[in-house]
Amino acid sequence: MKDEKIDVNETKATDSNYLSARESHKISRENRRITDQFEKQNKRKNVPESEYTTKMKNPANVVEFDNLHTYFYTDVGVVKAVDGVTFDVPFGKTVGIVGESGCGKSVTSLSLMKLVQRPQGQIVEGEIRFDAGDKVYDIAKTPIEEMYNIRGNMISMIFQEPMTSLNPVFKIGTQIDEVITLHSLDLFHEEMKAAEKSVSNVKPSKESKLMIKARTLEMLDLVGIADSEKVYRMYPHELSGGMRQRVMIAMAIACNPKLIIADEPTTALDVTIQAQILEILMELKDKINSSIMLITHDLGVIAGMADYVVVMYAGRVVEKGTVFEVFKDPAHPYTIGLMAARPGINKEVERLYSIPGKVPNPIDMPNYCYFRDRCEKRIAACDGEYPMEIKLSPTHSVACYLYTEEEYRND
Ligand SMILES: Nc1ncnc2c1ncn2[C@@H]1O[C@H](COP(=O)(O)OP(=O)(O)OP(=O)(O)O)[C@@H](O)[C@H]1O
Ligand code: SF4
Ligand SMILES: [Mg+2]
Repeated sequence: MKDEKIDVNETKATDSNYLSARESHKISRENRRITDQFEKQNKRKNVPESEYTTKMKNPANVVEFDNLHTYFYTDVGVVKAVDGVTFDVPFGKTVGIVGESGCGKSVTSLSLMKLVQRPQGQIVEGEIRFDAGDKVYDIAKTPIEEMYNIRGNMISMIFQEPMTSLNPVFKIGTQIDEVITLHSLDLFHEEMKAAEKSVSNVKPSKESKLMIKARTLEMLDLVGIADSEKVYRMYPHELSGGMRQRVMIAMAIACNPKLIIADEPTTALDVTIQAQILEILMELKDKINSSIMLITHDLGVIAGMADYVVVMYAGRVVEKGTVFEVFKDPAHPYTIGLMAARPGINKEVERLYSIPGKVPNPIDMPNYCYFRDRCEKRIAACDGEYPMEIKLSPTHSVACYLYTEEEYRND
């Protein structure tokens, strides 16, 4: 998309606090011009595969985010929700993503599914490489038409509030059956060939229906629902929050996806149920040999479940590494602040620490370290441009002027 040379930054308010009707109108017009160009790319049909397939940089990864930029073109200016994010999700591993509200965690994961609210939200730069087995997609360039094969089938998502994803008027069984029907192409292969129809038009035979129901019941059993036959016939409102979240997990794993994105999957649940749900998720991940991108505010959850951690701040990755590295030696002042703000059993504190100050306005980001105005460790160099990433070890890196290449070079 970068090749098309769409000027992605043009809409800008002259004064971010006050906008005249004329300015606002000008911005919307300019936004429409830019987003129309992206939408033209997104909606293309019969695009040759070579235009959106690529190679992984490291075959051990299932996903590689590479300099991802996802912007929202709003009437008050361009919101740079994700502004140059780079990290990997290795096969079979869990990568935790932390950072305070609004730092771009959800937009990063939605970009991978191409589910960012369009037309205003667009991936404007960078690559998201996804290894689907037979080919590697660059999701940023993949047309929406092709995304239907990837979503649910190869990558599935578990959201914070299951009621927003479950349809209140259909029974649980019907909803999981539908997911399996839509994605189990091989199950209907013969029927499709016979009918010469697309999968959406195929009515499963009686035998297929029985197979689908058996699979749904198996999924419900797997997520620890004791009376699966009964739950199969229930409506979402008849279940507790924890049970609904189990149903969501059953749906997410029904098609053996290569990657599960769990966006705050347990924040709406109480603590004991949270632990059970997370345990189930981890067990199933290993059973179906999948990877997990786990988005959470809870550093305790990351410490207990993840192999790697990515710390985001204002649309950028400020630190990443193995859980051991980041928890043992947090390097970025923001990560250190997050760790200090964590309540602990053996910590005697009068008042819970909170990082003072606030995140810069996402419409008008400064060209220096975004954490500078809140940073207690700031030095003269911090007035320079946004700091580059410094490798502290082959797996641990940080974007901060307190560290230099020379100090940490391994050769
Ligand atoms: N549809 C939208 N239109 C405009 N801006 C948006 C839209 N969706 C998200 N944003 C902005 O993008 C930024 C990142 O949002 P995102 O939802 O990714 O945050 P988050 O890290 O997931 O936060 P939380 O922890 O609260 O879920 C925020 O500044 C948000 O206001
Ligand atoms: S670059 Fe400077 S201001 Fe930014 S986090 Fe590091 S020390 Fe603080
Ligand atoms: Mg979010």
